[in-house]
Amino acid sequence: MIPLDTIIQGDCIKLLGSQLFPFADLVFADPPFNIGYQYDVYEDKKAYDEYYRWTRDWMSACKRILNPRGSFWIAIGAEYAAEVRFIGRELGLTLRNWVIWYYTFGQSTKRKFARSHTHLFYFTQDPVEFTFNDEAVRTFSDRERVYHDKRANPAGRIPDDVWTEFPRVCGTFGEREGWHPCQMPEPLLARIVRVCSNPGDVVFDPFSGSGTTAAAAKRLGRRYAGMDISADYVQNANARLAEIQPLGEIPPSENGLWPEEILDLLNTSYAEFALPTDRLHANPHLFERFVKRFHSRLHHSGVAGSYSPEDIWRQLETLRKKARLTKIRAHADEPAKIPIRTLP
Ligand SMILES: C[S@@+](CC[C@H](N)C(=O)[O-])C[C@H]1O[C@@H](n2cnc3c(N)ncnc32)[C@H](O)[C@@H]1O
Repeated sequence: MIPLDTIIQGDCIKLLGSQLFPFADLVFADPPFNIGYQYDVYEDKKAYDEYYRWTRDWMSACKRILNPRGSFWIAIGAEYAAEVRFIGRELGLTLRNWVIWYYTFGQSTKRKFARSHTHLFYFTQDPVEFTFNDEAVRTFSDRERVYHDKRANPAGRIPDDVWTEFPRVCGTFGEREGWHPCQMPEPLLARIVRVCSNPGDVVFDPFSGSGTTAAAAKRLGRRYAGMDISADYVQNANARLAEIQPLGEIPPSENGLWPEEILDLLNTSYAEFALPTDRLHANPHLFERFVKRFHSRLHHSGVAGSYSPEDIWRQLETLRKKARLTKIRAHADEPAKIPIRTLP
């Protein structure tokens, strides 16, 4: 049996081979991309056929342990995206989305365009029966945000399949663990965990690395399991996880002060909603919806309680005054006021 709530060391194909029954409600896999990345143990440069066969083997091992209503996400670079889509079809998985994660920190290049995106495949085991908690990820539509149109869906809008809200975890970021070369941002994993699983479900990562998938899962009140070929990464990831307390187990506030973890959730929700505080302040109707959607996120993050609109506003203001609120490009999405000149 694959143990839960820990990361174990080993080759995921071998370890999964001894698992008799499906156990995962959500699998997130971010394998080495075969582009010569520097890992401590794994050699990231294989011949095409070998890498292709290996990809099919681990994808098929993950499909076998995925529950009948489970979801299977795969992160992959442009070099092998077509192959992953093809193997997914061969294995009988249903493609729900081919998401592009656009990150704003691409490395510069000399003789080609800079790499600035990763492909995120979202497959399900069953074409119809699967978990998709839309209210856990809904944001604001342009109808609400820009045009203040009363006909806008009061539930908000499910984000597009191009994700621009999650910067890569760079060396200078506080979130960066430092001992792993390609740590994913936790807020990106949190979106996937919230939408494709429920509190108490099992989230599994066969290439755990720095442990980001498990970190998001634990924080949001899910069970988790993970594997990595590197003993050092496993040890460090388990140490990272030991520091994480599920959001639902943290006391909501003391003397009007919110715990840092809930403040982080408020901040990432604010960034995803992309409504600057001045516009929220000017429109009580939008703020009311902000409060409602923030509570949906809390609920899908395993938090039972709620906060008053006044309290939420106070916390946003405090974060803003301390320059901790994520900067939103003010009014970037408003219709252009300057007429575009035509060429002579
Ligand atoms: C792209 S990294 C994963 C990064 C991770 N998503 C994170 O946020 O930290 C890929 C990981 O796969 C591990 N790995 C390579 N081959 C493996 C195998 N056969 N079984 C398990 N892990 C493996 C590597 O050691 C590396 O840590």
